[in-house]
Amino acid sequence: MTNFSSSLGNKTKFLVLGCGFSGSFFAKTIRNFGITALTSSRVNKQDPNSFVFNSENGEVPDEKIFDGVTHILSCIPPDKNGRDPVLGSLKSTLQDLSLEWIGYLSTTGVYGNTKGEWVSEIDQPNPFQKRSHMRLNCEREWIKSGLPVQIFRLPGIYGPGRSSFEAIRNHKIRVISKKDQVFSRIHVADITNAIIYLLQNKDSLKFHQIINIADDKPCSQIEVIQYCYDLLDLKMPKPILFEEAKKELSPMAQSFWMENRRVSNKLLCETLGYKLIYKDYTIGLKNCFLNS
Ligand SMILES: NC(=O)c1ccc[n+]([C@@H]2O[C@H](COP(=O)([O-])OP(=O)(O)OC[C@H]3O[C@@H](n4cnc5c(N)ncnc54)[C@H](OP(=O)(O)O)[C@@H]3O)[C@@H](O)[C@H]2O)c1
Repeated sequence: MTNFSSSLGNKTKFLVLGCGFSGSFFAKTIRNFGITALTSSRVNKQDPNSFVFNSENGEVPDEKIFDGVTHILSCIPPDKNGRDPVLGSLKSTLQDLSLEWIGYLSTTGVYGNTKGEWVSEIDQPNPFQKRSHMRLNCEREWIKSGLPVQIFRLPGIYGPGRSSFEAIRNHKIRVISKKDQVFSRIHVADITNAIIYLLQNKDSLKFHQIINIADDKPCSQIEVIQYCYDLLDLKMPKPILFEEAKKELSPMAQSFWMENRRVSNKLLCETLGYKLIYKDYTIGLKNCFLNS
C-alpha cells in the first residue's frame, strides 16, 4: 500500500465522479499518496480540485478536466430514468481518452432476495426492486461500452459520519426485529483500500470484472444497533416487530427489508488476498464511535 503512487506511475491522474460519502473518502486517501485526484459535484464547490458535473441539467466538465486522465472512479447512481449519468453524458469523451482503468460502484441489490443464503459473483443477478433492475442495466451498459471498467458491488456502506450512531443521536433510530433477517455491510475505508489493493494487482481487471466488496459478517440490524447502544452506554429501546413497524416506514425503507442475503467476499479476500481493515461491524463501529 505504501508504494501505491509509485506502482501506478507518476503520470497517474484520477477523476472521481460523484464526490459523496465513498467518493470523497477515496479521493482524500489517494491524495495522501501524492496522486492527483479531481472530484465532481453537481454544484460549484469553489475548490480547485473540484469541477461541476450534473447530468440532470446537462452541465458537463470542461475538456481541460480530462487532460491526462488515466483512471476514473464513478460513484454516481442511476438517474431517475434508470440511465447511467456518466455514460449518458460522457461516454464518447471517455472512449476518446487513453484510460487504464475505470471503477464503477454498484450495489449487491442486483442479486435480489436469496432468503438469507450466501451469494457471490458467479451467481446470476436476480434483481427484485425496480432500482436494482436499473442498476443491473447500468452495469451492463458499462461492460458494453468497451471501456476498461471494473465493477464493485457494495452492500450497505457505513463509516464515520454515516452509521447507526448518527441515527441514535438524531433520535431517528428504529429498532426493528424480523426473524432470520440479515444485512451485509462494508466500511467506507475498506471500499477505498480494496480498490487501491486491486489497482496494485494489475491482473485483477483482466480476470475479474465484477467484484463484491463486503465484510465477513452479515448479521441482523438489531445486533448492530445493540452494539452501538452498548458503546454509548445507553439502553436500547424495545424492538418493534417488522410487521408492526412497516406501517411507519417509507417505501424505500420498507424495500430494504424485503431482501435478505449474505454477500460473499471470498473472491476479494481469499482468491485475490485482500485483508479487510474492518472485518466486521464491531471493529468498524468502534472506528465510527471514535471518529464521529
Ligand atoms: N449508501 C449505500 O449504503 C450504498 C450501498 C450500495 C451501493 N451504493 C452505491 O454506491 C455508490 C456510492 O455510494 P455513496 O453512498 O458513497 O454515494 P453518495 O454519497 O450518495 O454520493 C453520490 C454522488 O453522486 C453524485 N450524483 C448523483 N446524481 C448525479 C447526477 N445526475 N449527475 C452528477 N452527479 C450525480 C452526487 O453529487 P452531489 O455531491 O453534488 O450530491 C454525489 O456526489 C452509489 O452509486 C450508490 O448508489 C450505496
